[in-house]
Amino acid sequence: MKRVLVTGGAGFIGSAVCRYLVTEKKVHVLNVDKLTYAGVLSSLKEIESNPLYRFEKADICDREKMAALFADFQPDAVMHLAAESHVDRSIDGPAAFIETNIVGTYTMLDCALAYWRTLQKSEDGGQRSEGGGQKSEDGGQRAEDGGQKSAVSGQRPAMDNAQLISDLGSPASGDQRPLAADFRFHHISTDEVYGSLGDEGLFEETTPYDPRSPYSASKASSDHLVMAWHHTYGLPVVITNCSNNYGPYHFPEKLIPLVILNALDEMELPIYGKGDNIRDWLYVEDHARALVTVVETGKPGETYNVGGRNERTNLGVVQTICDVLDELRPLGGSCGKSEVESGTGETSHPTSNLQHSTSTKEIKSYRDLITFVTDRPGHDMRYAIDATKLEAELGWKAQENFESGIRRTVQWYLDNDWWWKPLRAARYAGERLGRA
Ligand SMILES: NC(=O)c1ccc[n+]([C@@H]2O[C@H](COP(=O)([O-])OP(=O)(O)OC[C@H]3O[C@@H](n4cnc5c(N)ncnc54)[C@H](O)[C@@H]3O)[C@@H](O)[C@H]2O)c1
Repeated sequence: MKRVLVTGGAGFIGSAVCRYLVTEKKVHVLNVDKLTYAGVLSSLKEIESNPLYRFEKADICDREKMAALFADFQPDAVMHLAAESHVDRSIDGPAAFIETNIVGTYTMLDCALAYWRTLQKSEDGGQRSEGGGQKSEDGGQRAEDGGQKSAVSGQRPAMDNAQLISDLGSPASGDQRPLAADFRFHHISTDEVYGSLGDEGLFEETTPYDPRSPYSASKASSDHLVMAWHHTYGLPVVITNCSNNYGPYHFPEKLIPLVILNALDEMELPIYGKGDNIRDWLYVEDHARALVTVVETGKPGETYNVGGRNERTNLGVVQTICDVLDELRPLGGSCGKSEVESGTGETSHPTSNLQHSTSTKEIKSYRDLITFVTDRPGHDMRYAIDATKLEAELGWKAQENFESGIRRTVQWYLDNDWWWKPLRAARYAGERLGRA
């Protein structure tokens, strides 16, 4: 794998993938990102001047632009992460989720298929040329015809894209172009498509889909489209469904960074309901390694669950963060208040529903800042991933457990206020979203 087109590479997980691909795997990366509120180019500071890395500001729904980027960059893999990703925002405004997650994924599939059809067939009839990625029962066979026509209907959708690509020409020379059978379209999805678990059981790849929020429904829909493009047109796709991520460069609206940063500001730490909802946490760099393992060695047409076997209640997560902060940055020490708190940020901060707790009660431990707020509507009770298939078949294993990962994360936020202070001041200051 030499040239990877990453969508959503300015986001939390996408930026970890770009950093890993460029610095560890030494592959060419084209990062295509619209830079919504969640896109943060400073997350890519480490690689921004690396000659292997290129950024293109673009919307994945812009079909003509995407087709031109495929033709110009000639990827041998697409890692599709661009999405609207916050459940609470999907409750407040589902339209953007339908547009980006469903229509955007369709657009990427359409352009990938047209591009893939221009690639050469391999001489051995569909086997991947460099080890890994044995063909799936039907996926490899369909690749044998180089994707020239649909395995089922024989139709040729999106020929206008193929025309566009051939009109634009192929800047990479013949031997640099990937073989059709080597190409992968990797769709990055979530465990939330499986719905909610009770006290027992784990999500497996065969668990029926049962999405509950506009976000998870839009992701489920995109997963179905991706598999349909495999079964109908033979496009070599892989899908991963991952549990909750945490780690460096996580946008301040999500639970873990929100709690760390509110705590540093001595603001209330809001927990939905009783805090007994359970999530299965994975350190983002473990996820990035898993994704690259799957795109390199996963079988076309297969789904892989990714998870860290780290189930925690939301209350347990928040208490752990408080305990780590009590140790690393004790209250009453050198804890400086951020610009959000001191009001010196460039814009106003709608924190009307959050309070600074220092004025109302004595704070000895960060745990004293914990407050319980009305639950999120339709809040799934428990997610837990069975990652056996990925571990057993592809040899991936998470390197961090929750305790080691959360300590690294808290330390990262303490050391990198240059990254989060401008975001918290200008874009998101900790206000409550998703009341419905
Ligand atoms: N965060 C998690 O815990 C988690 C867990 C499992 C799966 N996922 C999935 O992983 C992917 C990445 O998640 P994340 O947490 O990094 O998301 P994120 O919200 O941090 O980043 C999304 C990125 O996509 C970009 N984007 C949004 N709409 C776009 C469009 N129309 N065109 C181009 N770019 C666009 C944004 O600018 C942003 O950079 C998503 O597909 C998400 O569903 C996330």
